[in-house]
Amino acid sequence: MPRQPPPLTPRHIAIIMDGNGRWATRRGLPRVAGHREGVRAVRRTIEAAIEHGVRWLTLFAFSSENWRRPADEVTDLTFLLRHYLHSELKELDEAGVRLHIIGERDRFGPALDRELADAEARTATNERLNLVIALSYGARAEIAAAARRIALKARAGTLDPASIDEDSFTAHLATAGMPDPDLVIRTSGEQRLSNFLLWQAAYAELIFDDALWPDFGAANLAGAIAEYARRERRFGARPTASAPVPPIVSAQ
Ligand code: FPP
Repeated sequence: MPRQPPPLTPRHIAIIMDGNGRWATRRGLPRVAGHREGVRAVRRTIEAAIEHGVRWLTLFAFSSENWRRPADEVTDLTFLLRHYLHSELKELDEAGVRLHIIGERDRFGPALDRELADAEARTATNERLNLVIALSYGARAEIAAAARRIALKARAGTLDPASIDEDSFTAHLATAGMPDPDLVIRTSGEQRLSNFLLWQAAYAELIFDDALWPDFGAANLAGAIAEYARRERRFGARPTASAPVPPIVSAQ
């Protein structure tokens, strides 16, 4: 639990990028046009995050449930991701962005898996912004995998079950070593977490923006950061003197 009051700019922002399909459908375009425009929003958001001094940005690019989409949409999304890596890695690297991938990335096949690993290695010493891309990611699967790793260590005798606590469990998640998100943003007006960072977002502020993801930009991110700064995060503790509990007024 933090002892210092948290800074006004969130250190870690996680975003559920939603609404690409609706953006395209409203314009009579194929869904892939929305995803393509969504990549532009990714670019804008990374630039804006850097300008605000955000240190960690996690983007939910492909959920474990997205495999249920028609094969051509999965192919389009995979192509876009690959294209993004090829066209933007140099620029990201020069801007000081360190790339991390979480999720079952091997499901995209050995070629993309290798490219992702190379991109992580190439940017490993960058420190300006940590960009975490969640790919084939689902929080429940992540938590189950952590439990499995812990159980295997316990069975092998390398981990004492009595020593398992929140910190040691956290260290077995895909996000081990990363700070928890302070702020989770979801676009397109939907108000769900959809199996995203369920463990890590336990104390995150949630902001739901009506903008469809392809329309999201610097102003939306600035608005979310300003809203975050207005909220008082208590981590389950008592309110501070600056925001006292309102007195109970008896209804007479
Ligand atoms: C949700 O919109 C968005 C996705 C499933 C994919 C997000 C992917 C990108 C923005 C492009 C690739 C990402 C990177 C990091 C380069 P939806 O299709 O569910 O929209 P809908 O709810 O309106 O149908």
